[in-house]
Amino acid sequence: MLSVRHLLGIKDLKPEDIQSVFSTADNFKDVINRPIKKVPSLRDVTIANLFFENSTRTRLSFELAERRLSADVVNFAAASSSVSKGETLIDTVSNILAMKVDMVVMRHPHPGSALFLSKHVDATIINAGDGAHEHPTQALLDAFTIREKFGEVSGKKIAIIGDILHSRVALSNIFCLKKLGAEVMVCGPATLMPKHIPALGVRVEHNLRKALEWCDVANMLRIQLERQDIRYFPSIREYIQMYGVNREILDSLSKPITIMHPGPINRGVEITSDVADSGQSLILQQVENGVAIRMAVLYLLAGRNDA
Ligand code: CP
Repeated sequence: MLSVRHLLGIKDLKPEDIQSVFSTADNFKDVINRPIKKVPSLRDVTIANLFFENSTRTRLSFELAERRLSADVVNFAAASSSVSKGETLIDTVSNILAMKVDMVVMRHPHPGSALFLSKHVDATIINAGDGAHEHPTQALLDAFTIREKFGEVSGKKIAIIGDILHSRVALSNIFCLKKLGAEVMVCGPATLMPKHIPALGVRVEHNLRKALEWCDVANMLRIQLERQDIRYFPSIREYIQMYGVNREILDSLSKPITIMHPGPINRGVEITSDVADSGQSLILQQVENGVAIRMAVLYLLAGRNDA
């Protein structure tokens, strides 16, 4: 069981909650590697996946996790719904809940939308990304992947590199990694660095080489052009020169480091294809672990103990 009723953000979790998610995910990872991948844990639980913003990994991973747990699943995509006719968030969700839905997984472009929903509807809410605020299951799967690679997260040096300003992944990762005892650095152009960031207890570095020399793991973030209202750097070409990770810079470091990326990747921008597809990269392990982590979150929030 978790200390929270909803998963709105990593900020609300205790370190014991995160460890509980990890140990439950360890069990579910065994389950999904068996020939029969389904367990009856969430039989008779109905889950609605509400995506008001595009997603590939998170949407498919939640749906797979729900089906592996034998839940009943309904999917909602805003683009093909009555939202386009002006229906409000509360009306949309209230109508879905009237169909006897127990849990809601929601991605929404507005920060705070998951919290807002949790205060107005009687269902368990899981935040699948709310604007530039939090993306808690991404941070859990990232930290779980680091734990799998190194045995523990505590004491590891993690550099989060790229567009920190617009990134919900960065904020959730910072909360999660710090709760687990890791050292965290953020690296990127000053214009893509939130002013409040030092208050979160992270190092700030603007030089990519220094960040890569310091870290055990570099978690590369893409430039979120869809959230940028103004130009934060002169050109993509200059960004690549300053902050793009390629084979040449990795080979010139004093030690090998591990590369992560939450996706979607802008190949050739924040990371070159040969690095993304190399043995130094954990990108597909992150995706694989996403299913086990989301199974664990759903299972623990449903409060069942019959896995
Ligand atoms: N990492 C992530 O959230 O990817 P999607 O936007 O494809 O879900």
